[in-house]
Amino acid sequence: MMKSFYNFVVLLFFSLLIMSCEGFFLSDIDDCGVPDGDNSTCLDECGIPNGSGIEIGKCDCNGNILGCDGVCGSKKVFDICGVCDGIAEFDYNCGCDNLNQVKDCLGECGGSAVIDDCGVCNGDSTICKGCMIQGADNFSAIFTISDSASCYIDFSSIEPILNNNCIGCHGSSGGVNLESYSNTVNSFLVSKSDSSRSLLYQVISKQSGYYMPPSGSLSADEIRKIALWIQFGAKEIN
Ligand code: HEC
Repeated sequence: MMKSFYNFVVLLFFSLLIMSCEGFFLSDIDDCGVPDGDNSTCLDECGIPNGSGIEIGKCDCNGNILGCDGVCGSKKVFDICGVCDGIAEFDYNCGCDNLNQVKDCLGECGGSAVIDDCGVCNGDSTICKGCMIQGADNFSAIFTISDSASCYIDFSSIEPILNNNCIGCHGSSGGVNLESYSNTVNSFLVSKSDSSRSLLYQVISKQSGYYMPPSGSLSADEIRKIALWIQFGAKEIN
Protein backbone atom coordinates (compact mmCIF):
# COMPACT_ATOMS: atom_id res chain seq x y z
CA MET A 1 0.00 0.00 0.00
CA MET A 2 2.76 2.43 1.06
CA LYS A 3 4.79 1.42 -1.99
CA SER A 4 2.02 2.11 -4.47
CA PHE A 5 1.35 5.53 -2.88
CA TYR A 6 5.02 6.31 -3.27
CA ASN A 7 4.90 5.22 -6.88
CA PHE A 8 1.91 7.46 -7.41
CA VAL A 9 3.68 10.50 -5.97
CA VAL A 10 6.76 9.89 -8.13
CA LEU A 11 4.61 9.51 -11.19
CA LEU A 12 2.74 12.73 -10.37
CA PHE A 13 5.99 14.59 -9.87
CA PHE A 14 7.38 13.54 -13.23
CA SER A 15 4.09 14.23 -14.93
CA LEU A 16 4.06 17.78 -13.56
CA LEU A 17 7.68 18.23 -14.54
CA ILE A 18 7.00 17.10 -18.10
CA MET A 19 3.94 19.31 -18.33
CA SER A 20 5.79 22.37 -17.16
CA CYS A 21 8.72 21.65 -19.45
CA GLU A 22 6.33 21.39 -22.33
CA GLY A 23 4.98 24.79 -21.38
CA PHE A 24 8.50 26.12 -21.26
CA PHE A 25 9.46 24.79 -24.68
CA LEU A 26 6.21 26.07 -26.24
CA SER A 27 6.74 29.60 -25.09
CA ASP A 28 8.16 30.44 -28.50
CA ILE A 29 8.67 33.83 -30.03
CA ASP A 30 5.75 34.58 -32.38
CA ASP A 31 6.00 36.02 -35.91
CA CYS A 32 5.82 39.49 -34.40
CA GLY A 33 8.81 38.87 -32.14
CA VAL A 34 6.70 38.64 -29.00
CA PRO A 35 7.59 35.71 -26.66
CA ASP A 36 4.58 33.50 -26.30
CA GLY A 37 2.63 36.03 -28.44
CA ASP A 38 -0.27 35.22 -30.68
CA ASN A 39 0.96 37.06 -33.81
CA SER A 40 -1.54 39.80 -33.10
CA THR A 41 0.74 42.74 -32.46
CA CYS A 42 2.06 43.11 -36.02
CA LEU A 43 -0.95 42.24 -38.15
CA ASP A 44 -1.38 44.30 -41.30
CA GLU A 45 -4.82 45.44 -42.44
CA CYS A 46 -5.33 42.07 -44.10
CA GLY A 47 -4.61 40.23 -40.83
CA ILE A 48 -1.24 38.90 -41.96
CA PRO A 49 1.64 39.18 -39.46
CA ASN A 50 4.27 41.58 -40.83
CA GLY A 51 2.28 41.70 -44.09
CA SER A 52 2.49 44.68 -46.37
CA GLY A 53 -1.25 45.32 -46.40
CA ILE A 54 -3.41 45.82 -49.46
CA GLU A 55 -1.34 45.52 -52.62
CA ILE A 56 -0.63 48.70 -54.52
CA GLY A 57 -3.28 49.14 -57.17
CA LYS A 58 -5.72 46.82 -55.42
CA CYS A 59 -8.62 47.89 -53.27
CA ASP A 60 -9.00 44.99 -50.85
CA CYS A 61 -7.17 42.03 -49.38
CA ASN A 62 -8.60 39.64 -52.00
CA GLY A 63 -6.70 41.32 -54.82
CA ASN A 64 -9.73 43.06 -56.29
CA ILE A 65 -9.40 46.34 -58.11
CA LEU A 66 -11.58 49.39 -57.88
CA GLY A 67 -14.34 49.43 -60.48
CA CYS A 68 -15.05 52.62 -62.42
CA ASP A 69 -18.25 52.93 -60.35
CA GLY A 70 -16.13 53.33 -57.24
CA VAL A 71 -17.12 49.90 -55.93
CA CYS A 72 -14.22 47.65 -55.05
CA GLY A 73 -14.31 44.44 -57.07
CA SER A 74 -17.32 45.45 -59.18
CA LYS A 75 -15.28 44.66 -62.32
CA LYS A 76 -16.88 47.63 -64.04
CA VAL A 77 -14.62 49.44 -66.50
CA PHE A 78 -14.83 52.51 -68.69
CA ASP A 79 -15.76 51.85 -72.29
CA ILE A 80 -13.88 53.48 -75.17
CA CYS A 81 -16.07 56.60 -74.81
CA GLY A 82 -15.18 56.99 -71.14
CA VAL A 83 -18.60 55.85 -69.91
CA CYS A 84 -18.40 53.66 -66.84
CA ASP A 85 -19.81 50.21 -67.66
CA GLY A 86 -20.75 51.57 -71.08
CA ILE A 87 -21.15 49.35 -74.10
CA ALA A 88 -19.40 51.35 -76.80
CA GLU A 89 -16.77 49.39 -78.70
CA PHE A 90 -15.51 51.93 -81.21
CA ASP A 91 -14.72 55.59 -80.90
CA TYR A 92 -17.31 56.46 -83.49
CA ASN A 93 -19.86 55.13 -80.96
CA CYS A 94 -19.10 58.07 -78.64
CA GLY A 95 -20.87 61.35 -78.12
CA CYS A 96 -24.50 60.64 -77.23
CA ASP A 97 -26.14 62.95 -74.69
CA ASN A 98 -27.86 59.97 -73.12
CA LEU A 99 -24.95 58.04 -71.65
CA ASN A 100 -26.87 54.78 -71.86
CA GLN A 101 -26.85 55.01 -75.63
CA VAL A 102 -24.11 54.56 -78.17
CA LYS A 103 -24.10 55.63 -81.77
CA ASP A 104 -24.78 52.91 -84.28
CA CYS A 105 -22.69 52.68 -87.42
CA LEU A 106 -24.89 55.29 -89.11
CA GLY A 107 -24.15 57.70 -86.30
CA GLU A 108 -27.62 57.54 -84.74
CA CYS A 109 -27.64 57.55 -80.94
CA GLY A 110 -29.37 54.38 -79.80
CA GLY A 111 -29.84 53.30 -83.41
CA SER A 112 -29.74 49.67 -84.40
CA ALA A 113 -27.69 49.71 -87.60
CA VAL A 114 -24.70 47.41 -87.30
CA ILE A 115 -21.74 46.58 -89.46
CA ASP A 116 -22.51 43.38 -91.33
CA ASP A 117 -20.22 40.43 -91.96
CA CYS A 118 -18.76 42.21 -94.95
CA GLY A 119 -17.80 45.31 -93.01
CA VAL A 120 -20.70 47.31 -94.43
CA CYS A 121 -22.78 49.48 -92.14
CA ASN A 122 -26.41 48.45 -92.24
CA GLY A 123 -25.53 46.02 -95.01
CA ASP A 124 -27.12 42.68 -95.68
CA SER A 125 -23.87 40.67 -95.58
CA THR A 126 -24.08 40.01 -99.30
CA ILE A 127 -21.41 42.20 -100.84
CA CYS A 128 -18.40 40.22 -99.74
CA LYS A 129 -20.06 37.04 -100.92
CA GLY A 130 -19.69 38.29 -104.45
CA CYS A 131 -16.66 39.56 -106.22
CA MET A 132 -15.49 41.61 -109.14
CA ILE A 133 -15.08 39.70 -112.34
CA GLN A 134 -11.87 40.46 -114.20
CA GLY A 135 -12.40 43.22 -116.69
CA ALA A 136 -15.99 43.85 -115.62
CA ASP A 137 -17.10 46.68 -113.39
CA ASN A 138 -19.83 44.91 -111.49
CA PHE A 139 -20.19 42.33 -108.79
CA SER A 140 -20.90 38.70 -109.32
CA ALA A 141 -22.40 36.57 -106.63
CA ILE A 142 -20.88 33.44 -108.07
CA PHE A 143 -17.68 33.94 -106.13
CA THR A 144 -17.37 33.62 -102.39
CA ILE A 145 -14.72 35.16 -100.24
CA SER A 146 -12.81 31.87 -100.24
CA ASP A 147 -12.31 32.33 -103.99
CA SER A 148 -10.19 35.39 -103.37
CA ALA A 149 -7.65 34.19 -105.93
CA SER A 150 -10.32 34.58 -108.59
CA CYS A 151 -11.54 37.82 -107.12
CA TYR A 152 -10.55 40.76 -109.23
CA ILE A 153 -10.78 43.92 -107.27
CA ASP A 154 -7.74 46.04 -106.97
CA PHE A 155 -6.80 49.70 -106.90
CA SER A 156 -7.68 50.09 -110.59
CA SER A 157 -11.36 49.82 -109.56
CA ILE A 158 -10.93 52.33 -106.75
CA GLU A 159 -8.68 54.96 -108.27
CA PRO A 160 -11.37 56.42 -110.57
CA ILE A 161 -13.72 56.86 -107.60
CA LEU A 162 -11.07 58.76 -105.66
CA ASN A 163 -10.04 60.80 -108.70
CA ASN A 164 -13.61 61.85 -109.43
CA ASN A 165 -14.73 62.56 -105.89
CA CYS A 166 -11.81 63.17 -103.58
CA ILE A 167 -8.51 64.34 -104.94
CA GLY A 168 -9.85 67.79 -105.75
CA CYS A 169 -9.42 68.40 -102.04
CA HIS A 170 -7.07 65.53 -101.14
CA GLY A 171 -4.20 65.87 -103.54
CA SER A 172 -0.53 66.30 -102.75
CA SER A 173 -0.99 69.76 -101.24
CA GLY A 174 -0.93 68.41 -97.67
CA GLY A 175 -3.18 66.56 -95.24
CA VAL A 176 -4.99 63.44 -96.41
CA ASN A 177 -3.57 62.52 -99.82
CA LEU A 178 -5.57 60.15 -102.00
CA GLU A 179 -3.61 60.66 -105.18
CA SER A 180 -2.03 57.25 -105.61
CA TYR A 181 -2.07 53.74 -104.20
CA SER A 182 0.93 54.36 -101.96
CA ASN A 183 -0.61 57.56 -100.56
CA THR A 184 -4.01 55.99 -100.01
CA VAL A 185 -3.02 52.69 -98.46
CA ASN A 186 -1.40 53.65 -95.20
CA SER A 187 -2.22 52.67 -91.65
CA PHE A 188 -4.05 55.94 -90.97
CA LEU A 189 -6.56 55.37 -93.79
CA VAL A 190 -6.73 51.66 -94.47
CA SER A 191 -6.75 48.65 -92.20
CA LYS A 192 -6.34 45.88 -94.74
CA SER A 193 -9.14 43.28 -94.73
CA ASP A 194 -11.14 45.26 -92.18
CA SER A 195 -13.14 48.00 -93.84
CA SER A 196 -15.08 48.86 -90.69
CA ARG A 197 -11.82 49.93 -89.02
CA SER A 198 -10.57 51.82 -92.03
CA LEU A 199 -10.98 55.59 -91.86
CA LEU A 200 -11.25 55.66 -95.65
CA TYR A 201 -14.36 53.50 -95.41
CA GLN A 202 -15.70 55.19 -92.27
CA VAL A 203 -15.74 58.65 -93.86
CA ILE A 204 -17.67 57.53 -96.93
CA SER A 205 -20.21 55.54 -94.92
CA LYS A 206 -21.06 58.05 -92.16
CA GLN A 207 -19.12 56.20 -89.49
CA SER A 208 -16.80 59.04 -88.71
CA GLY A 209 -17.11 62.63 -87.59
CA TYR A 210 -16.38 63.59 -91.20
CA TYR A 211 -18.69 62.54 -93.99
CA MET A 212 -16.92 62.50 -97.33
CA PRO A 213 -17.26 63.93 -99.85
CA PRO A 214 -18.55 66.93 -97.88
CA SER A 215 -21.34 67.58 -100.32
CA GLY A 216 -23.20 64.73 -101.91
CA SER A 217 -22.29 61.15 -101.34
CA LEU A 218 -20.65 58.32 -103.22
CA SER A 219 -23.10 55.96 -104.82
CA ALA A 220 -24.00 52.76 -102.97
CA ASP A 221 -22.04 50.83 -105.58
CA GLU A 222 -18.93 52.96 -105.12
CA ILE A 223 -19.14 52.54 -101.35
CA ARG A 224 -19.47 48.79 -101.77
CA LYS A 225 -16.51 48.65 -104.10
CA ILE A 226 -14.31 50.42 -101.57
CA ALA A 227 -15.56 48.17 -98.76
CA LEU A 228 -14.98 45.05 -100.83
CA TRP A 229 -11.55 46.21 -101.99
CA ILE A 230 -10.48 46.75 -98.37
CA GLN A 231 -12.01 43.45 -97.28
CA PHE A 232 -9.95 41.69 -99.95
CA GLY A 233 -6.75 43.18 -98.65
CA ALA A 234 -6.64 46.56 -100.45
CA LYS A 235 -4.45 45.18 -103.21
CA GLU A 236 -2.72 47.43 -105.70
CA ILE A 237 -2.84 44.89 -108.52
CA ASN A 238 -4.51 41.51 -108.64
C1 HEC B 1 -14.63 69.69 -100.97
C2 HEC B 1 -13.42 69.17 -100.43
C3 HEC B 1 -13.36 67.74 -100.05
C4 HEC B 1 -13.68 66.65 -100.82
C5 HEC B 1 -14.22 66.59 -102.23
C6 HEC B 1 -13.37 65.48 -100.01
N1 HEC B 1 -12.87 65.86 -98.80
FE1 HEC B 1 -12.19 64.66 -97.35
N2 HEC B 1 -11.83 66.24 -96.17
C7 HEC B 1 -12.04 67.54 -96.51
C8 HEC B 1 -11.71 68.40 -95.39
C9 HEC B 1 -11.78 69.91 -95.36
C10 HEC B 1 -11.30 67.54 -94.34
C11 HEC B 1 -10.85 67.90 -92.95
C12 HEC B 1 -9.44 68.36 -92.93
C13 HEC B 1 -8.46 67.28 -93.30
O1 HEC B 1 -8.29 66.32 -92.53
O2 HEC B 1 -7.84 67.38 -94.40
C14 HEC B 1 -11.38 66.20 -94.88
C15 HEC B 1 -11.02 65.07 -94.16
C16 HEC B 1 -10.95 63.80 -94.71
C17 HEC B 1 -10.40 62.65 -94.04
C18 HEC B 1 -9.78 62.65 -92.66
C19 HEC B 1 -10.86 62.46 -91.63
C20 HEC B 1 -10.31 62.46 -90.22
O3 HEC B 1 -11.01 61.94 -89.36
O4 HEC B 1 -9.18 62.97 -90.01
C21 HEC B 1 -10.53 61.61 -94.89
C22 HEC B 1 -10.09 60.16 -94.64
C23 HEC B 1 -11.15 62.10 -96.08
N3 HEC B 1 -11.40 63.43 -95.93
C24 HEC B 1 -11.46 61.31 -97.16
C25 HEC B 1 -12.13 61.77 -98.27
C26 HEC B 1 -12.57 60.91 -99.35
C27 HEC B 1 -12.38 59.40 -99.39
C28 HEC B 1 -13.16 61.71 -100.25
C29 HEC B 1 -13.81 61.29 -101.54
C30 HEC B 1 -14.84 60.28 -101.44
C31 HEC B 1 -13.09 63.07 -99.75
N4 HEC B 1 -12.47 63.07 -98.54
C32 HEC B 1 -13.55 64.18 -100.44
C33 HEC B 1 -12.44 68.01 -97.73
C34 HEC B 1 -12.87 67.23 -98.80
